[in-house]
Amino acid sequence: MIEELTHIEVEARDLINGATDLDTLKAVDADLLGRSAPLTAFKKDIGKLAPEDRKDAGQALNRVRTAVQEAIEVRRNELEAAQRAHQLEDERLDLSEVLTRPQLGHLHITTQTWQLLEDVFVGMGFTVSEGPEIESEWYNFGSLNFPPDHPARDMYDTLYVEYGEPGSTLLRTHTSPVQMRVMENEEPPIYTIAPGRVFRQDTADATHMPVFHQIEGLVVDRGITLGDLAGTIEAFTTAYFGGSFTSRLRPSYFPFTEPSAEFDILMPNGEWLELGGCGMVHPSVLGHGGLDPEEWSGFAFGFGLDRLALMKFGVDDLRELWSNDVRFLRQF
Ligand code: PHE
Repeated sequence: MIEELTHIEVEARDLINGATDLDTLKAVDADLLGRSAPLTAFKKDIGKLAPEDRKDAGQALNRVRTAVQEAIEVRRNELEAAQRAHQLEDERLDLSEVLTRPQLGHLHITTQTWQLLEDVFVGMGFTVSEGPEIESEWYNFGSLNFPPDHPARDMYDTLYVEYGEPGSTLLRTHTSPVQMRVMENEEPPIYTIAPGRVFRQDTADATHMPVFHQIEGLVVDRGITLGDLAGTIEAFTTAYFGGSFTSRLRPSYFPFTEPSAEFDILMPNGEWLELGGCGMVHPSVLGHGGLDPEEWSGFAFGFGLDRLALMKFGVDDLRELWSNDVRFLRQF
């Protein structure tokens, strides 16, 4: 009987190690240790043995049973570990996939220019402000010292919106109304820029579009002078265009600044490029913004962004900025 037990143990080990998955191992477990297994039948047979043989047979049976149980346990651990490793491999996230994604788009050159300008001014300590594109007559004109019927309104070919009183609502013709909104909402010192879309009634050609972009600047603090304005324009010019560029101010007129100027930049090829308008914020404009002109002074400037995008990327027609032709867009 002991011989037979040894034989069963050897066979059992072969079966156990031959199981290559957990289901098979479960079946082998039932075959070897279950109710109808030979090892179980042996227990009953022990009772039939001569009393002096029972002890040895019993001990041998227990040893084999324990050995088989242990072998099953060891094999189960092995198979479970293999299954876990397999599952981990299956569920692995291949993050390198994103590198091979084809045809990623990129920001439009107007947006790239916009962001670069913001970066330069933020680097100089300015914050970025926003205002609505559909404006009231008050913010776009009235608060900025353009009384109704003032000839300076003719500087702008305004697009009116049919809303409220006729002439009361319009598409902003410049970013200057954001000056007023910032003064109303923030306490000085104010050092901010306001980039955005502006609208004028214009026929599209290589140098005009009815929709374009401006970037406004507003500084309000104690003791701000024209020297601060000139210095800021010059610092911006060298920061944005490079050290070989320089700037100048030319006397001009805007109702909301006094004195007012146009500013130009001198390019390395010796040509002057007219960039935008600027000036010291008019005392009554400060007053409209809720600030005491005896306490505060400031300057403002505003210039077109689209022309800078053309310059930067060597494009010669403004209309290209609005074309959705990917053969054009992909070049930049
Ligand atoms: N808003 C003026 C324009 O569009 C430019 C400007 C801005 C002038 C700020 C002076 C101060 O023509």
